[in-house]
Amino acid sequence: MRELHKNITEISHPVVDRDLTILRNKHTNTADFRLAMGRIATILAYHALKDLPLKEVEIETPVTKASGFNIDTDIIIVPILRAGLSLVDALIDFIPDASVGHLGMYRDEDTHTPVDYYSNLPNKLETATVLLVDPMLATGGSADDAIHFLKEKGASNIRFISLISAPEGLERITKKHPDISIITAAVDEKLNSDAFIVPGLGDAGDRYFGTT
Ligand code: PRP
Repeated sequence: MRELHKNITEISHPVVDRDLTILRNKHTNTADFRLAMGRIATILAYHALKDLPLKEVEIETPVTKASGFNIDTDIIIVPILRAGLSLVDALIDFIPDASVGHLGMYRDEDTHTPVDYYSNLPNKLETATVLLVDPMLATGGSADDAIHFLKEKGASNIRFISLISAPEGLERITKKHPDISIITAAVDEKLNSDAFIVPGLGDAGDRYFGTT
């Protein structure tokens, strides 16, 4: 685990390194791409939610009374459409009672700036732990807009999960949103002239949905 900035956690695990290689490889088929994405999503969620508040509860085991814990916060998963959806199934497996909100955004291919086209968010945004998810953090424009939007709607506890992050995007989010923690599986080298992450994995949405 590398801490590059107090708000950024780059996870490190042999399974993640293997799965990142599967995801980066342009010869990986859609089925294997989806499976690897799901495995990494679970590990990212594990790290993103490590400090969730708990409340003590009394239960009975078949043998005796015992004390245990429930999670003491609502959790809202917010994928940035479309590619963010690639992480959602695994996150719901990990946190089955989480609500899911959606933010629709795509990046204009010429200007590289995000365009909003849809939003549908659950209640309790103000008090919930919000997991904003998008596999790619490139310029950071989409994440910046999404965080801004969620804050305007009242969200106060946002964590951002990104599979692969460019230094440019990380710098933008840490500067503009110093209250947001970022959990990522890889910090890559740079952006190229088309604002694609290098080495990256190409277009995560296209590869996950088979629209290449
Ligand atoms: C990709 C990616 C992020 C965004 C990252 O989405 O999933 O949302 O670009 O770039 P940025 O940090 O420079 O904003 P894309 O526009 O390809 O849309 P899609 O999810 O529908 O494939």
